[in-house]
Amino acid sequence: MLDKTSGLVIPEHVGIIMDGNGRWAKKRGLPRSIGHKFGAQNFRKVTRYISKTGVKVLTLYAFSTENWKRPMEEVSALMALFKQYLVDLLTDFRDDEIKVVIIGDKSGFDKKLRDLIEESEYVSKDRQGMLLNVAMNYGSRDEILKSVQAIARDVRDNKLDPDNISFADIESHLYTAGLPDPDLIIRTGGELRLSNFLLYQSAYSEFYSTDTLWPDFDDKAFDQAIIEYNRRNRRFGGV
Ligand code: FPP
Repeated sequence: MLDKTSGLVIPEHVGIIMDGNGRWAKKRGLPRSIGHKFGAQNFRKVTRYISKTGVKVLTLYAFSTENWKRPMEEVSALMALFKQYLVDLLTDFRDDEIKVVIIGDKSGFDKKLRDLIEESEYVSKDRQGMLLNVAMNYGSRDEILKSVQAIARDVRDNKLDPDNISFADIESHLYTAGLPDPDLIIRTGGELRLSNFLLYQSAYSEFYSTDTLWPDFDDKAFDQAIIEYNRRNRRFGGV
């Protein structure tokens, strides 16, 4: 188990792009939805492990604003998993004091899922452990657009001078307002892209990609990412 006592720097905020469920299932001759089922089980296991390492904020990419383009059957299977897991999370993450927040455009979901989201956020709101952001119907361009719209409304209402718009104004309208930027972004499944995940916030994040498919990503694979993170020389544009 990796934590502060291992002498390694533990990143404060970690983002994970959980990719590869479909390929994991295909390799076994199973439907993609079964890959998501195993992916969801792994989401629970990995989250609990990470919460014990000292990471303060974990942001997991579960469903993007573009994922609606997938076949209806796959989207429905994912929505059913979200419902099932949100119910489980109400009790499941209690012992680990994990606080759950859903980031993304919740208006895209049906009423049952919206209610469950509200309930899980309410039930976990006073927990003191790791903050888990689950990005659902999340797209970074959509998030930035919403921030621009909010700022434009403030300018129209004479609450803000355009010449004084600051980074803080932009950031205050992002879903991650008040949180540190991600130090490390992990992508499973081998692709080397951000796929519309935390575009603004990841300006100086360290990017780590592994070929391991999400359902196979475990404690050891996470430790490996932390070891690699500790080899990086973060300069934030300086020397
Ligand atoms: C990407 O794999 C994965 C997704 C689009 C869904 C991620 C969702 C989960 C891991 C479910 C768990 C989440 C919760 C909150 C219960 P892919 O389908 O793109 O895989 P491929 O690249 O192999 O096709």
